[in-house]
Amino acid sequence: MEDISSKEDQRLEYHLDPDQPVSLDELKNIGVKYWKIDVDDLEKDVTFTRIRKERCYNYQDMCEIHPDTLPDYENKLKTFFKEHLHDDEEIRLIMAGSGYFDVRDRDDKWIRIEVLKGDMLVLPAGIYHRFTLDKNDYIKALRLFKGVPVWTPHMRPADSKPARQEYLDLLKVIDKEKTIS
Ligand code: LAC
Ligand code: NI
Repeated sequence: MEDISSKEDQRLEYHLDPDQPVSLDELKNIGVKYWKIDVDDLEKDVTFTRIRKERCYNYQDMCEIHPDTLPDYENKLKTFFKEHLHDDEEIRLIMAGSGYFDVRDRDDKWIRIEVLKGDMLVLPAGIYHRFTLDKNDYIKALRLFKGVPVWTPHMRPADSKPARQEYLDLLKVIDKEKTIS
C-alpha cells in the first residue's frame, strides 16, 4: 500500500495502483501468523485451543473499540496508528467488526491486512506495525498473551530494542528454512 500522509483518512482501503494482493505465504515470510477460527463456538474450535496451548497463551481479555465504548476514542485511535513495535507478540482474534493491521514488509513497505470476524493474527515481537479501524468504526477483539500482559508500544525508531534484533534474527531463520525445503 501507499504511505498515508497525516492529512489523509487512515480508515480507507489503500490499494496500490495496480493493486498488489498479498498472500498468506508472503505474511509467513515476515513472521506473521494467521488462522481462521469459529468464534461462535470458541472453546470447541480445535485450532484455537491447540494454538493457545502450544503457544502458552494463559491470559486473555476482550477489547472493544467503538466511539461509544472507548473513552478518549479519537486520540487512542491516532496512537494505535503510530508506527511501533512491542517486546512480545501481538495476538488478536477478531470476534466482531473489522479493521486493518499495517505491517512493514522486508523492503519497509506497508502491507495492509484486513481483519474480519474469525481472523486470528499473530504479529511477531519486534515487527513494525500499526492499527486502524475502517469506515465501520467498530472492532471487538480477544487479546491473548503469555504471562502478565504488556501492551507498551515502542514508537519507531526503536531499532535499539532487543525485540527488534530478535525479529531480524527471525527473518534470517525464515530464510534458512526456505533454502532447506
Ligand atoms: C496494539 C495495536 C494497536 O498495539 O497494534 O494494540
Ligand atoms: Ni501494536
